[in-house]
Amino acid sequence: MKKWLLLLMTAGLAAALAACGTSSNNSNASGDDKTLIMATSADYPPFESKEGNKIVGFDVDLAKALAKKNGYKLEIQDMDFASLVSALKTNKADIVLAGMTPDEKRKKQVDFSDIYYNAKNMVVTKKNSGIKTDQDLQDKTVGVQLGSIQQDDAKAIQKKYNLTVEDRNKISDIIQEIKAGRFDAAIIEDKVAAGYLKKEKDFHAFDLGGSTNKGSAIAFKKNSDLTAKFNQSLKEMKENGELDQLIEKWFADEK
Ligand code: ARG
Repeated sequence: MKKWLLLLMTAGLAAALAACGTSSNNSNASGDDKTLIMATSADYPPFESKEGNKIVGFDVDLAKALAKKNGYKLEIQDMDFASLVSALKTNKADIVLAGMTPDEKRKKQVDFSDIYYNAKNMVVTKKNSGIKTDQDLQDKTVGVQLGSIQQDDAKAIQKKYNLTVEDRNKISDIIQEIKAGRFDAAIIEDKVAAGYLKKEKDFHAFDLGGSTNKGSAIAFKKNSDLTAKFNQSLKEMKENGELDQLIEKWFADEK
C-alpha cells in the first residue's frame, strides 16, 4: 500500500474515533434517540419500589412526566443503589432518579438537576432498644445503605459514638437485620423511614442531629444535553403545580 494512502486511512480512522468520543455523551443508552433509560434502586418506597415486576413511585411518575415533556419514552432499569453513578458513566443509563442526593463526590462524576424534594436523616430503631437520642447510639451497630450519603453520615459520627457501621445493598435488608437483632439501628431518610414504621409497629424513629441531607435531584451523564432541558421542565412543573400533585399523590400518607 502507498504510504500516503495509509496515512490518509489512519487520519480518517482517528477522526471517526474522535467523533464517537464527542457524541457519546449525547447518544442514549437505549441506542434509540427517542428512548431514555432511567436507572433506579427500587427499594425505596414511596420514591421507587416494586409492585409485582413493575417499578412504581414518585421518581417514576416524575421521570415519565419530564421525559414526555421533552419528547422521550422511558425505560426503567433496577439495580443496586451503589451501581447507579457508574451506570451513567458507562452509558448503561441516561438518567438516575433514586432519591439521590447531590454531593461533592458524585458531582465529580455526574451532573445533577435542581433539587426536587427535600429530606432529612432519621435514626430508626426498635422501640425497646433504649435508643432515643443520638447519644444513645454509643457503642451500637448502625446499618446504612451501601454507597448512600447515610453511609457517609454514619462514618462522620462513628468515632464520636464508637459505632460499628454496617452496610447492606437494600434498605429492606437493613430493616431485616434490625428485626433479627443484628443491627441496633439504621440511618434512613424521613419519608422512607415513615413507610417502614407503618409496617413495623415495634419500631420508632427520631431526627439524627447535625444531618446535612440536601434532598433529591436527578443525575445525568457529565455534560449531557438533557440536564438543562429537564431542569427547565422541572421548573415548569414546580410553577404550575404538577410537582405538588405528584408529591400529594405519593407522600400524603407519610406526612
Ligand atoms: N438520598 C440518599 C443518597 O443519595 C439515599 C438514596 C437511596 N435511594 C434508593 N433508591 N435506595 O445517598
